[in-house]
Amino acid sequence: MKNIAFFDTKPYDREYFEKTPHEGLHFKFYVNKLNAETAFVAKGCEGACAFVNDTIDKQAIDELYNCGVRVLAMRCAGYNNIDFKAAAGKIKILRVPNYSPYAVAEHTMALILCLNRKIHRAFNRTRDYNFSINGLEGFDLHGKTVGVIGTGKIGQIFLGVCRGFGMKTIAYDPYPLNDNSIEYVSKEELFRRSDIISLHCPLTDSTYHIIDEEALSLTKKGVYIINTSRGALIDAEALLKALKDYRVGGAGLDVYEEESELFFEDFSGSVIQDDTLSLLVNMPNVIVTSHQAFLTREALTNIAEVTINNLYDFFAGNELKNEVP
Ligand code: NAI
Repeated sequence: MKNIAFFDTKPYDREYFEKTPHEGLHFKFYVNKLNAETAFVAKGCEGACAFVNDTIDKQAIDELYNCGVRVLAMRCAGYNNIDFKAAAGKIKILRVPNYSPYAVAEHTMALILCLNRKIHRAFNRTRDYNFSINGLEGFDLHGKTVGVIGTGKIGQIFLGVCRGFGMKTIAYDPYPLNDNSIEYVSKEELFRRSDIISLHCPLTDSTYHIIDEEALSLTKKGVYIINTSRGALIDAEALLKALKDYRVGGAGLDVYEEESELFFEDFSGSVIQDDTLSLLVNMPNVIVTSHQAFLTREALTNIAEVTINNLYDFFAGNELKNEVP
C-alpha cells in the first residue's frame, strides 16, 4: 500500500477520489494547503497530491523529500506554483494535462453571456419582485469579434463555441497551429480589433501581465476582458483603472493574481483586505467566479482517474506520460 498525502482537500475532491478505483493507494486527506509549514504531514507517504494554489517552493519540496515523498501528483493542468529546479532529481512532478477543456471553454462563454445580458443583475432584481429591465441592455454577440490569446486545447474549443454564436474570431499565439480556420494576428492587432478578449495561455514570464496598462490603451472602448486561465495574466490595478474610465466595458474573471489566500474558501463573514478585489467584486460590470471553470462532473472524474493512473505508472516504473519535464 502506498500512502499519498492529499493536500487542500475539498468535499468534491474526496468524493471523486474515493469513488474512483484506487487499489494499492491510500489517500490521507488534509484540508491544509501544501506549503513549507504543512509539508511535514506527509511523513511516511511515498507520494503527495496538490492543487493550483499550493505553494510548492524549495522549502516545501525539501520537506516533502525528507518525509519520503518521491512523486507529486498535481490534480490540475497548470504548474506555475512549483519550483522545478528544487524538485529536479528528487521528486517527479506529474499532472493532468487535459481533463475537460470543454468545462473551461463553456464557463468562459457563461461569463460572457452573464456579463453581456446582465443575468446577475436580473436575477437579483426579480428575486426582489423588481421586474424593471432598465439598464439591462446588452449587445448581440453575432458579428462581434472575439480575440483569443492562446490556441491550445481550451482556446480551440472556445473558438468553436464562439463560431457557434456567429462571432468573428481572431487569435494570437507565438506557436500558431497549422489550421487555416484560425486567423492569427499580432497581439497588438488583437487588442485593437477585439470586442471581447479571452485569455487561454499559460502563466509564464512572457505572459505575466499580458493585459496591462499599455495593452488596455490599445483596446476598443468598451472591450470585455475575460480570464479563465491564471490571475497574473492581468495587471488587476490597470484593469480596475480602465473599468473606472469606462475603457473596459466589462470583465469576467475566474482567476485573480492574489487568489491563493482567498479562492476556494468562505470569507462571507470577514472584511476582505484586498481593496482591488473588493472593488472589482462590487462593480456591476464585473463577474468574479472563484476558479471554478473546471468544476464539472466530467472534469472531476477525469482528474481523479488520470491522477490515480499517473501514480500507478510512477510506482510501477512505467513511462510517465504526464510528467512535467
Ligand atoms: P494548452 O497548453 O493546451 O494551451 C496553451 C496555449 O497557450 C498553447 O497553444 C501555447 O502555444 C499558448 N501560449 C504559450 N505562450 C503564449 C504567449 N506568450 N502568448 C499567447 N499564447 C501563448 O493549455 P490549455 O489546456 O488550453 O489551458 C490553458 C490555460 O487554462 C492553462 O494554462 C491554465 O492556466 C488554464 N486553466 C484554467 C482552469 C480553470 O479552472 N480556470 C482549468 C484548466 C486550465
